[in-house]
Amino acid sequence: MFGNFRFKMLNREAASGKNKPEEIIKSLGIKIGMIVADIGAGGGYFTFEFSKNVGKDGRVYAIDTDRNSLAFISNKSKEEMINNIKATLAYENGFMLPETADLFFLRNVFHHLSNPDEYLHNIKRFLKKDGKLAIIDHQKNGFSFIGLFDHFVPEEMIIETVEKAGFRVLEKFDF
Ligand SMILES: C[S@@+](CC[C@H](N)C(=O)[O-])C[C@H]1O[C@@H](n2cnc3c(N)ncnc32)[C@H](O)[C@@H]1O
Repeated sequence: MFGNFRFKMLNREAASGKNKPEEIIKSLGIKIGMIVADIGAGGGYFTFEFSKNVGKDGRVYAIDTDRNSLAFISNKSKEEMINNIKATLAYENGFMLPETADLFFLRNVFHHLSNPDEYLHNIKRFLKKDGKLAIIDHQKNGFSFIGLFDHFVPEEMIIETVEKAGFRVLEKFDF
């Protein structure tokens, strides 16, 4: 199916060594029992990695506006008999969770948000008071597809948006 091909390609890109997935995961400090929200999960590469990290007592919410992404992740979870992943449908400006999370993770998703201020405002109540928000997005590198098609948000704008929503920048990484 063409849809599945797209999610497999997203996973291949996320898993590629040049995109430093191991460094990303290590930097997040995920522990057994944590509740993690993979927001804009796509093909779920990080969802499945987080699932191993949080163990059977933790949970990973794979959140996406695309029902095909959620179906792809749910089918893979069933095939692999993984029980700690919950596929959750997002709406354009947020989502609902039945509990609060320790970590919100957005990789290459922030630039898709039509109203990031409203999105953060709507989802913040589902993050624990000492929870963390991790945002990874493209940088504009000269004359490229990413720059030409606005597949990025300048770092200063991301920081301004998260601070306006009441978050504080704790750490920045550039692997
Ligand atoms: C470029 S993909 C990134 C997928 C994954 N995070 C990764 O790193 O491989 C962006 C994903 O964000 C999803 N998305 C777009 N707008 C969203 C929203 N408002 N809330 C949740 N997910 C959204 C898209 O459907 C798509 O699956």
